[in-house]
Amino acid sequence: QEVVTEEDEAGKGNYPHFMLKEIFEQPRTVKRTLDVYTHPAHQTLGLPRAAADQINLADVSSIYMVSCGTAHYATRVSEYWFEQLAGVPSKTDIASEFRYRRPALAKNSIAVFVSQSGETADTLAALRYCKEQGIKTVAIVNVQTSTIAREADVVLPTYAGPEIGVASTKAFTAQLVVLLAFAVAIAEAQGHLDEAEVAALSNDILTVNSAIEKALSLDDVIKKEVIHFEQAADAFYLGRGVYYPLALEGALKLKEISYIHAEGFASGELKHGPIALITAKTPVVFIAPFDDLFEKSLSNLQEVAARSGPVLLLSDEKGIAHAGSAPTRSIALPNTPEIIMPIVQTVALQLLAYHAAVALGTDVDQPRNLAKSVTVE
Ligand code: G6P
Repeated sequence: QEVVTEEDEAGKGNYPHFMLKEIFEQPRTVKRTLDVYTHPAHQTLGLPRAAADQINLADVSSIYMVSCGTAHYATRVSEYWFEQLAGVPSKTDIASEFRYRRPALAKNSIAVFVSQSGETADTLAALRYCKEQGIKTVAIVNVQTSTIAREADVVLPTYAGPEIGVASTKAFTAQLVVLLAFAVAIAEAQGHLDEAEVAALSNDILTVNSAIEKALSLDDVIKKEVIHFEQAADAFYLGRGVYYPLALEGALKLKEISYIHAEGFASGELKHGPIALITAKTPVVFIAPFDDLFEKSLSNLQEVAARSGPVLLLSDEKGIAHAGSAPTRSIALPNTPEIIMPIVQTVALQLLAYHAAVALGTDVDQPRNLAKSVTVE
């Protein structure tokens, strides 16, 4: 086990920016987090015993997930996991909407609050609302001493270490792996996956840190692709399925630190509005690894290309091979088990935003008008 002191983690090391350092820390921070959610003898994912008992996994009827910013996109990705792996109805919401809507909550449901800082005012207010309603509250937080960690019934920690860059990177991937472990745990407790399926899935998930390493080794390749955004006033990110929320997160990363106006859309919505915006000056990033939805994404990509929109395809080796000459530019991430691909794609989205911001000369670690933690409304 590698020993890393808090002091090492809070420094910038040899990196020009905290953000880049934090992106490169991810193989370690993801592994350190996953270790806590991995049964030491069986090497299967799940929740620590005490947390699993407190939540009473077998009886959970539905899940509400409430958060803000990047943490919200982590929950949007995990919605697919809770539904597809565990068959549990799940709903995500932005905390500022949830708290004032005062939603009706289903019996035997649980509410999950995801927050790096554990101090976001709206997320905390949403947690207090759910406690008043008498439903079980679970916090996925990076700062264990935070208010949200103290007030929730159950805490599932992320071990990303101190995150200094305002744009969240390693906290996001740590949130994703905890949510994945949570989904596997519920799937097993509710008999949605059997022991062999849990073992196989865990095996795939535990390759994630080496897959992240491989994605990071493409840093120079990804850096060259920022040419895609040169002189762009607007950029669009498109994805389907689990890659739709990733498109939202990719666009958020770019706008936060490069100040290029960026929006994410579901590829299937292209015809319902966004396609009207496509010109030769609006770069589009398609996030489409080679999976069951790839052909559909490829046809959306062709629709954009036919309107002269410059397309950057973010895929895996198989997807790039299948896409032929349709995209203007492309980045081939390593082929990995499907379940961890969203995490691998995240790394590329982070590096893309980072290098675009550096090329534009912005203050990457402290972008204008943004705060690391939003503790007032
Ligand atoms: C701010 C930060 C974001 C973060 C969001 C939620 O907007 O700039 O990076 O995702 O707050 O913060 P939390 O600490 O609750 O995850």
